[in-house]
Amino acid sequence: MLSTETLCELSQDYRPCEFRVKWADSAWEITQARRLRRDVFCDEQQVFAGDDLDAIDTQAKTLVAVSQLGGMPDQVVGTVRIHSEEPGLWWGSRLAVDAAFRQHGRIGATLIRLAVSSAHARGCRIFLAHVQSQNTPLFKRLHWQALKQESLHGRPHDLMQADLVHYPPCYDPISGYPVPRRSVA
Ligand SMILES: CC(C)(COP(=O)(O)OP(=O)(O)OC[C@H]1O[C@@H](n2cnc3c(N)ncnc32)[C@H](O)[C@@H]1OP(=O)(O)O)[C@@H](O)C(=O)NCCC(=O)NCCS
Repeated sequence: MLSTETLCELSQDYRPCEFRVKWADSAWEITQARRLRRDVFCDEQQVFAGDDLDAIDTQAKTLVAVSQLGGMPDQVVGTVRIHSEEPGLWWGSRLAVDAAFRQHGRIGATLIRLAVSSAHARGCRIFLAHVQSQNTPLFKRLHWQALKQESLHGRPHDLMQADLVHYPPCYDPISGYPVPRRSVA
């Protein structure tokens, strides 16, 4: 029989394995997404000092990856934002997954999928992002093309464009997508 102590040890190791990627529609989702951005872009990468909010946040849509516990939303473990600069031209930025959940369940890839597909459903014809160069292989695997190299915030980036053929329009981004479970070998 398991002792209480053993049960507690097990619960410390527990990590959720179900996630949903969606447009944020609650204040707690936005709050947690902004905290995650600060953790990643200010504390971890030190790209910005103190806060990474900018003018784009006044018009951008925030997307979140939310872990599920017992079928209920639990916490934001990933985020990205999208905005339209002009009719047909959309940008994605501030893609971040909590360090504890990276390469865990294709959370980043699913955020990219909903970012592009939900913009596609809203008239996007060109979807671009300034991608940190260490992530260019990830985006190439997801059918993005590098257009040019650039330096932003003192770091190497690639300007990249998504191939919309691989991103069918998503008309219900508030429901979004479940993150596919990683198969166990
Ligand atoms: C980049 C980032 C969002 C990726 O999120 P993630 O949830 O770990 O990525 P995923 O698990 O969805 O990756 C999908 C696949 O690409 C691979 N992959 C992930 N990051 C990669 C990278 N930088 N280069 C090459 N492959 C990568 C994964 O191993 C996985 O492979 P698989 O399908 O064979 O299992 C995450 O590493 C992160 O938040 N980094 C810090 C912030 C950052 O760099 N933001 C991006 C600014 S452009």
